[in-house]
Amino acid sequence: MKVFGTLSLLIGAAITSPSLVARQGTNVTDTFYLKTSGSENPDHNDLYVYGYHTGAGLNDAVLTPDVETASKGYLNGTNVQFDLHTTFPWGLYPIGVTNYAAWQFVELNAGYGIEGFFVNSTGLQWSERNGFGGWLVCDWFHNAPQLFYIYRYYTPKYPASCSEVKLLTEPTA
Ligand SMILES: *[C@@H]1O[C@H](CO)[C@@H](O)[C@H](O)[C@H]1NC(C)=O
Ligand SMILES: *[C@@H]1O[C@H](CO)[C@@H](O)[C@H](O)[C@H]1NC(C)=O
Ligand SMILES: *[C@@H]1O[C@H](CO)[C@@H](O)[C@H](O)[C@H]1NC(C)=O
Repeated sequence: MKVFGTLSLLIGAAITSPSLVARQGTNVTDTFYLKTSGSENPDHNDLYVYGYHTGAGLNDAVLTPDVETASKGYLNGTNVQFDLHTTFPWGLYPIGVTNYAAWQFVELNAGYGIEGFFVNSTGLQWSERNGFGGWLVCDWFHNAPQLFYIYRYYTPKYPASCSEVKLLTEPTA
């Protein structure tokens, strides 16, 4: 009930904000944080996506309750980009499934990211044609919850530390 309340509140906020309507595959410069919602595991809700440095130009999409740590994103066409205070762009990269995996990493890497993103009333979506079957959060190897996406062509049998979430776009202040 609490989860549903939070979600309706965010959807309510979205409806009253005309800019959000225009956010589907258009050139919108409004910035947002990606925030988890709707998980069966309360510890996986209300977490923000941020870039966890893993190498030059590479970050894993890790989750934090701390909005100060969250990465500020925006839609550029159907690409999600991030402002990580550098002169070059950062983008959202769901890693392609080339290994028969039922879920895969999501990275925030140097570059414009991969196209096919849009926002609807259940949050950020990636194109189903690219294999997107929803977002997954698992307690993972950076000793924190981490974001993955489910590959829609396989049935995921994920471990108990994982749960499916929605990724809502929370406007930045
Ligand atoms: C979006 O609009 C801004 C400001 O008008 C412009 O500078 C930028 O090039 C546009 N981006 C795209 C992808 O059209
Ligand atoms: C949007 O993406 C295009 C490349 O597809 C890039 O040239 C442009 O600078 C980007 N705009 C912003 C605001 O990042
Ligand atoms: C949002 O988009 C996703 C992915 O295409 C779809 O499964 C879902 O039903 C959509 N939600 C709504 C409320 O239309």
